[in-house]
Amino acid sequence: MTFRTLETASEHDGADMVEIFIDDNPVRARRGQNLAALMLTGTAGTFRASPVDGSARAPFCMMGSCFECLVEIDGLSNCQACLTPVRPGMRVRRQL
Ligand code: FES
Repeated sequence: MTFRTLETASEHDGADMVEIFIDDNPVRARRGQNLAALMLTGTAGTFRASPVDGSARAPFCMMGSCFECLVEIDGLSNCQACLTPVRPGMRVRRQL
């Protein structure tokens, strides 16, 4: 399943748009946009693999409770994407 965002004025005119990297791929996003929401609109259907059985995991609660959205951000593993705003130049890796 792929989600999409509603187009905002800033997306339309390019204001407050920044570039980040997800698995080394450049992605344009709104500054301050929720990282998990951004990733759900892209190709990152799976955010991490379960350390128990390797099953694919993705955000469930979007409010910091389930820990299904863990990703590596700027070299720091196990960050909750649903609680992280987009910052210019941030480097995100899925934990697969
Ligand atoms: S989606 Fe549940 S903690 Fe992030």
